[in-house]
Amino acid sequence: MSRPPHEKTAEARDRRVLELWERLVEVEQRLIPTGLHVFGRAGDTRECADLLRAVASYDRPECGARALNDLIAEGLGLGAYEKLLEDKSEQGWRVRANVDEVLRESIEIFLRDGAGRARLWLHENARVETEDSFKVFELLSGIREQLRTSGELDGLARSLRGEYVEPGPGADIVQNPAVLPTGRNTHAVNPYAVPSHAAYARAERVVGLLLERHRAEHGRVPRTMALVLWGLDNIKTQGEGVAQALWLLGVRPLRDSLNRVTEVEPIPLERLGRPRVDVVMTVSGIFRDLFGATMMLLDKAVRSVAALDEPPEMNPVRANVAERVREGGCTAEEAQLRVFSNAPGSYGTNVNFMVMDSQWESADALGDLFVTRKCFAYGRGPGGRALEGREARGALARALSRVEATYQNVDSFEVGITDVDHYFEYLGGVSKAVEQHARARPAIYLADSLSREASVRTLPEMVRLETRAKTLNPKWYEGMLGHGFRGVAEIESHVTNTFGWSATADAVDGWVYEEVARTYVLDAEMLGRLSSLNPHSARSLVARLLEAEGRGFWEAEASVVEKLRDAFSSLEDRIEGVA
Ligand code: BEZ
Ligand code: MG
Repeated sequence: MSRPPHEKTAEARDRRVLELWERLVEVEQRLIPTGLHVFGRAGDTRECADLLRAVASYDRPECGARALNDLIAEGLGLGAYEKLLEDKSEQGWRVRANVDEVLRESIEIFLRDGAGRARLWLHENARVETEDSFKVFELLSGIREQLRTSGELDGLARSLRGEYVEPGPGADIVQNPAVLPTGRNTHAVNPYAVPSHAAYARAERVVGLLLERHRAEHGRVPRTMALVLWGLDNIKTQGEGVAQALWLLGVRPLRDSLNRVTEVEPIPLERLGRPRVDVVMTVSGIFRDLFGATMMLLDKAVRSVAALDEPPEMNPVRANVAERVREGGCTAEEAQLRVFSNAPGSYGTNVNFMVMDSQWESADALGDLFVTRKCFAYGRGPGGRALEGREARGALARALSRVEATYQNVDSFEVGITDVDHYFEYLGGVSKAVEQHARARPAIYLADSLSREASVRTLPEMVRLETRAKTLNPKWYEGMLGHGFRGVAEIESHVTNTFGWSATADAVDGWVYEEVARTYVLDAEMLGRLSSLNPHSARSLVARLLEAEGRGFWEAEASVVEKLRDAFSSLEDRIEGVA
């Protein structure tokens, strides 16, 4: 029996409200760095609370500490927190919100009254045994102490005097609290240890989500993908991006008698349970410098998959190589090139500079520049000789022409896709190059691999999330404005980085520019603040909005364009001392 219409409507409305709520929680839960770090100065209590809450949400087997939200969920008799994450009903959300609130409160008490009181409070209010929470609060106490006493100024002075600066690992505090105290030299990883067991295990889950997302939207898993791999990210995660590439290909790393990852072994198709994915890897100059052995491993992984006698629909690497050889003018070895970077000694794609300086007419120029900068092949060439960056423009262009989806792993709690210009220069750049060579825009994905709910989002979803969590969020921009001149420059830079996603991937909704204009330019008081703190960045921000309109990324009303033009001229006058 069908339900009466009003009931259906009420149900639909409830579902809609729940979805909206989920979105709001998603924005709220992103760790929003409020303001900039001032060299040598400790963050305030609010920032410290956000950070400690994030740190306390993960198991830390290295110091025997269990995640506080697990302890709380178990104490309250709710079972594993992981299971709560899977329940997407309203009831599930409420239960989870309750656990998160207890966690929040316990951190507040810790910061106000110390670890002892926080542990007692947790025992009384969530039945967490005090001995079970000992280790995690011991860890938090250490972090709090180290956050108060940074060695940054001392480290800088030592290095300027040419003295020894102690080394420490490179990561963010949530990923690895051992990075504290700051102000030390960063030491890297042993490339032969990459990917770690943990990174390989985490990557399986993310790749599963990624392929599932593509299947849901496009009916099947992609046959060929382009991946961006960065050096610092793979240091921080011990090779999670590398492990994702291996999982896509369907291979596992093997360790030799010295525990070094030097070989790979294909996972049989029956065990993999899906087709393999061909991957084109564009790696940063930093990755190339740090992970030479890993580039060889990735190259080996591609070649081992290409050699498997498997049906073409299950092994697109083999099928693509065979097709390329049939086309002629290319050996099988060349047809297997998949690892590309800059020429030796050169870094970056320069796509960011071309966008920031408005030095492009057609977007094809951005894709061409990406290929020009990144078309140097690494791996093994004919006779097994190392290639070490041989120019191979045709090989990269051909490989990109088969790509259906592009992807990058985002692994930092602090730096998102509109915070820096590097995400759009790399992921945007490769996506534009694919669009040109494959004559179709690829699906573009990013994974948030570190939060406990690893999630995969499309680029437009990620741009919306970053816009709401940062660029248009008063908590974020007021934090920036507190830093005066530099803060306005940061706001302008977010707008330009967002614009970079229009230029390279057309991934920004018109409302984003509309709201940026409304927030920063059409609001006279705000424009006044920006122009007195930093008229140069204010002018650039207005110019970028006008450029977005001029290039058709945003259809602004004529009256809005006129107001932007007026604001631009007044800022010019102010800078030139006319007004
Ligand atoms: C890297 O770690 O590879 C990287 C860092 C900054 C910008 C681009 C790449
Ligand atoms: Mg930079």
